[in-house]
Amino acid sequence: MTDDVAEHAARFDEKAGEYDDGDHSPEYRQCRDLVIEHAAVDADDIVLDLGTGTGAIALALASDADRVIGRDVSEGMLGQAREKAAEAGIENAEFDTGRFREPNVDSDVDVVVSNFAMHHLSDADKRDAIDVIAGLAPDRFVLGDVMLFGEADPEEPFYSPAVDDPATVGVLADALTDAGFALTAVERVHEQVGVLVAERAGADQT
Ligand SMILES: C[S@@+](CC[C@H](N)C(=O)[O-])C[C@H]1O[C@@H](n2cnc3c(N)ncnc32)[C@H](O)[C@@H]1O
Repeated sequence: MTDDVAEHAARFDEKAGEYDDGDHSPEYRQCRDLVIEHAAVDADDIVLDLGTGTGAIALALASDADRVIGRDVSEGMLGQAREKAAEAGIENAEFDTGRFREPNVDSDVDVVVSNFAMHHLSDADKRDAIDVIAGLAPDRFVLGDVMLFGEADPEEPFYSPAVDDPATVGVLADALTDAGFALTAVERVHEQVGVLVAERAGADQT
């Protein structure tokens, strides 16, 4: 697994133009839809989408939110997201460079979402990223990703050891609770794909 951010960025720059036309798995689509649903965004919410890519989640949430911030390491993917926002006339979504551990966000946010991106980080970096996310004081963090509910199976399509490093659900749950979140929902989409919903302890859930 490479944990070199520049390598991930270059890889996604290369595929940015075709990413939306790609043959996404049913599990990816289910995960994306569950993240959007569990984000449960309100009209006055500021939403941060980390590893936003071409903005699949960010743009879907924009009409429900006050403001959406998309961050990614790939300029190519961000360019596609900006183009899609302009074409759709979406004015409350902005896309800029930022990484999990340094999201380039200067205010607190209400909801953080991330879909199919965090598995590119090592487990130690995931833990750091979750601490950074907790530092932004969101009420809710919704993580859809490749994650291991059982044993890793290299034959399965969701796990490519050269570029991916999915964590077990247990590792993610520990990191989330250590960072002060309470795990309020676990959606198992596939043995290696799921959605975790984490609420900040003490956050107003109304
Ligand atoms: C498989 S795409 C998912 C994009 C989008 N979230 C979606 O659901 O379609 C993974 C994205 O994560 C981004 N990424 C990889 N490492 C990252 C990091 N350390 N910080 C932020 N984004 C990262 C990649 O550039 C890529 O755009």
